[in-house]
Amino acid sequence: MKNLISSPSAGQNSRRDFFKKASLSGIALFVTSKFSFAARSASAGNPTLNQAVPKLAEYHLTAQSKQLPLPYAYNDLEPYVDARTMEIHYSKHHAAYTKNMNEASATTDYITKPLFQLFSEIEKYPVFLKNNAGGFYNHLLFWTIMSHSTGQEPEGNLLSAINDSFGSVAKFKEGFSNAGKKQFGSGWAWLSVNEQGKLVISSTQNQDNPLMSTTEVKGIPVLAMDVWEHAYYLQYQNRRPDYVDSFWKIVNWKEVSRRYDEALSALK
Ligand SMILES: [Fe+2]
Repeated sequence: MKNLISSPSAGQNSRRDFFKKASLSGIALFVTSKFSFAARSASAGNPTLNQAVPKLAEYHLTAQSKQLPLPYAYNDLEPYVDARTMEIHYSKHHAAYTKNMNEASATTDYITKPLFQLFSEIEKYPVFLKNNAGGFYNHLLFWTIMSHSTGQEPEGNLLSAINDSFGSVAKFKEGFSNAGKKQFGSGWAWLSVNEQGKLVISSTQNQDNPLMSTTEVKGIPVLAMDVWEHAYYLQYQNRRPDYVDSFWKIVNWKEVSRRYDEALSALK
């Protein structure tokens, strides 16, 4: 398996530590043949994505996975996200999704499958498992694409791709922000790489994500924004637009770039 999270770039130490700690803490990594998965899922409607996602490092997450350590302290995202919100979000909400996913998976055959394979055939499973497995993974991604290091902006290949797809970074941010602001009720805004290798903006309800077979706009997510009220209500109350606008101050663009490069490599 190509280890796509070990590319030596500045700023990736926390990422490596993140997964190193995961391994040390006993996270179950199922090494499943990408070829056998592709053969099983070739008729599932998105063959390119189905063949690409097994190459992603996080594909090998599965049932009985443990919640991973936050790559920063609860108060590191202040003043844009307050410490109490981060503590409750991580230690209560994400912890519950993780616990529920593991309990629900024990009653299905998912316990033997990689997480992304579950997403690719999610219609076969109970909604309770879908919601909690989505909640487990979406937050795992979400924690990594935020950082206390403010002042970052997209660079390199990612910047070029954003300009190609949306015209400018400003227009991209406007489109992504609107996806979050206009998502009715609880959900997420996404920036994903679709099966043509293009960046696309979308939103999903509940804990759905672009990897799920039931989601309209599919792709490999590289940036996610949680717009559930639990992500912002203590600090922003009903002012979701203010939370969305503050989000740009804490995006870890180095991690988004790493995920973008990983997605493109997987699609080759
Ligand atoms: Fe959340």
